[in-house]
Amino acid sequence: MILVSPSILSADFANLQRDIKRVEPYVSWLHIDVMDGHFVPNISIGVPVVKSIRKITNLFLDTHLMIENPIKYVDAFSDAGSDLITFHYEATKDKTIETIEKIKSRNVKAGLSIKPKTSVDEIKDYINLVDLVLVMTVEPGFGGQKFMDDCANKIKEIRKINSDVIIQVDGGINDKTAKICTDLGANSLVAGNYIYSADNIEQAINKLL
Ligand code: DX5
Ligand code: ZN
Repeated sequence: MILVSPSILSADFANLQRDIKRVEPYVSWLHIDVMDGHFVPNISIGVPVVKSIRKITNLFLDTHLMIENPIKYVDAFSDAGSDLITFHYEATKDKTIETIEKIKSRNVKAGLSIKPKTSVDEIKDYINLVDLVLVMTVEPGFGGQKFMDDCANKIKEIRKINSDVIIQVDGGINDKTAKICTDLGANSLVAGNYIYSADNIEQAINKLL
């Protein structure tokens, strides 16, 4: 089964509820990009917005933290209603296990993400400890960028290590690049620009499956 997780980074933040309701009938996950202006060169949204989203939807809240020192914010995002907290290996390194354990202690699913320049080898010891591995197929920070083909091979490497872990891809996903990723073993697709710029959202989502 392929899980599509629409990224609200491409939604209209002044009409967030409307834009969540536009995708809600067709998916079970919602991707929330949290950026701090330090780990990535952009600032997006944070805990209060997750808390408000939790009140208006039952979708599984897939929270992608592109922030420094993520362990510090695990309690706040758990309390706000995140169902999955994905953090970046590059933001923790020596605190990776500690961060995974902290997320799990809150009964929230734990995800570990790698940027395009980080190899699977660097995270191989953690793959069996998390629920999801997120392979970034663009440099994190902005929606609407071009899919980096060479990153996709990491999906195969991760699948070889663990047949059960959810492998998510994020960045430049559309009806063509989705197929490359699912063929390699990915089963969760984040898509922002592709979904929110479509004339027919239902059709666009179905084309990813
Ligand atoms: C990028 C974010 C993505 C972004 C993807 O840093 O992590 O989730 O919204 O956007 P698209 O699908 O437009 O590449
Ligand atoms: Zn993301």
